[in-house]
Amino acid sequence: MGNSDGRKAMTRAASASRKPGRRRKQYACGPANLQPGERRLIEVDGKQVGIFNVNGEYYALHNRCPHMGGNLCAGPVSGTTLPAGPYQFVYARDNEILRCAWHGWEFEIATGICLVDPSIRARTYAVEVENGNLYLYI
Ligand code: FES
Repeated sequence: MGNSDGRKAMTRAASASRKPGRRRKQYACGPANLQPGERRLIEVDGKQVGIFNVNGEYYALHNRCPHMGGNLCAGPVSGTTLPAGPYQFVYARDNEILRCAWHGWEFEIATGICLVDPSIRARTYAVEVENGNLYLYI
């Protein structure tokens, strides 16, 4: 019961922070050094944020896992297995999934959605490329 209530509270808090009116545009870094599949951990406006280049698109996640607060952005980036028939192994979505190093929960980098429970999300930030630099909406 405690976990369920906590998850709902975190989801509500994350939703509230996504209101466009509460976001400010902040310089993050130059994009030239981030190649597809790479990430960079930066601090913006007092928040640790991981910026990821996923197949040429930039995404940003708060470096705090919604499970127990682990350093989410330090975990491995990989793909995941898809539902398949008996004795079948279907690996897909390479470089789109971030696995928390603490307990292995997996999150879609683009949305922050937890793969095993879509009601749980890591906080994400919109990323914009402008004049060769990356900006976050914090
Ligand atoms: S703190 Fe991330 S999976 Fe537990």
